[in-house]
Amino acid sequence: MLWGLPGMTPAMLFPTAAAFFLVCAGVGVVVLSGPLAVGRWRAYPALAATHLLTLGWGTLVAMGALHQMFPAVLGISAKPGRGTVVHLAVTLAAAFTLPAAFLAGSPPWVAAGGVLMVASVVLLLAHLAQLVPRRRRWPPSATGVLLSVAYLFWTVVWGALMALNWNLQFWPALYTYLGVGVHAAVGLVGWFVQLVVAVSYYLLPRFTGVRHVSERRVVPVLWALNLSVASFVLAAATGQALPARVGTVVLGGAALAYAADVSRFLRGARQTVPDLTNWHWWAMVGQTALGGAAGLLWTTGLLSDGRRLAAATAILVLCGWVTLAIMGQLYKVTPFLMWYYRFARGLSAYEVPRLPAPYFPRWGVAAFALTATGSTLLWASVLAALPTLAQAAAAVFAAGCAVYAGGAVASWVVAVLLRPPRGSQTAPAPRV
Ligand code: HEM
Repeated sequence: MLWGLPGMTPAMLFPTAAAFFLVCAGVGVVVLSGPLAVGRWRAYPALAATHLLTLGWGTLVAMGALHQMFPAVLGISAKPGRGTVVHLAVTLAAAFTLPAAFLAGSPPWVAAGGVLMVASVVLLLAHLAQLVPRRRRWPPSATGVLLSVAYLFWTVVWGALMALNWNLQFWPALYTYLGVGVHAAVGLVGWFVQLVVAVSYYLLPRFTGVRHVSERRVVPVLWALNLSVASFVLAAATGQALPARVGTVVLGGAALAYAADVSRFLRGARQTVPDLTNWHWWAMVGQTALGGAAGLLWTTGLLSDGRRLAAATAILVLCGWVTLAIMGQLYKVTPFLMWYYRFARGLSAYEVPRLPAPYFPRWGVAAFALTATGSTLLWASVLAALPTLAQAAAAVFAAGCAVYAGGAVASWVVAVLLRPPRGSQTAPAPRV
């Protein structure tokens, strides 16, 4: 049934499953927004919500996209096969186990979930590594993609070590910021931010048709990102503030350079009708500028609480920036929208490409507005320690997650399960 859909591959099951985790993560953020705004960031429920977002949503989608897109980046064809299904099963087991273990407050199960996630990343690394020798080209963004996956490996190994240390107490220093500080820096900046930035410089020229901005402009941004990660790791390992300030300035510089390049691509975009993917990128430019400005305010001492800034920035990156990047790009790197039009709306294969603005479904506009507004307000309310505003912002964000998951995934899944299309290759009879 789902398997027979046109364009379905095992890689598509990653973002399909991730939509379920997105809705759960939205609910988690609502429940936790109050405690988050008053500083309870490392409590078990907060860790559960964080890892629903980082593993169940962000990493699951990214892994599916890498299975689908990395061969194209290297200029080769490699259809996702049985190995991808095994990888999906291991990753889903980890993405379920870890948040559930945090919620249950069970260190042994947190460690078990961590070991499963390490296995998942090893499978991904092995899969990507066997593609590299077959490459026909090596665009600069390919380096950024592999660097980000290396940081993912470091993140999950460090996470598993922290969890094992909770059980076996073999490394007391991991209870300090050497543990969570290093883990969060390499996970948020080294993995998520670097992956989104690297993929942006590959997708933007292809989506906007703009060719006068060189893909090589990603190189200095990647250098700055990796330098900032090294500074944050040094700060977490030494407990010194100076490397953290240096890292923030360098990351702020990378953010401004990235925002300027993305704006140039979008201003030159060939689209003449409204396009939600571009709208998501504009929102990311806005949030990049906001996050960069807050960081620079802290480095100049105008913002005092560095830990509150770090927690607010983690929320902006996870609920805002990364989620907006994924939501916007899923409209184009997956057949989800085509399946929505064909099976949820019952349009024929002839009608879909003739839609006036195919990348602008009404539910998508609502999901975009709710997610972008909710995540930005949540960041501001955590930064300003305003629990009531944080709860309202979280509710708006969660509504955006539910509308998106409903339109982009649940709509066609339910339609196909309730009324499987005849022979699934042909469109249902067009409504006259
Ligand atoms: C993409 C992958 C991951 C990312 C981006 C990530 C991110 C984070 C962040 C931002 C925090 C701080 C959250 C807070 O304080 O509320 C955190 C804490 C933590 N993470 Fe992860 N995480 C990832 C995967 C993992 C994995 C696979 C494990 C394995 C068990 C893990 C174990 C932990 C632990 C134990 C803490 C709490 C540390 C402490 O408070 O001392 N994480 N993670």
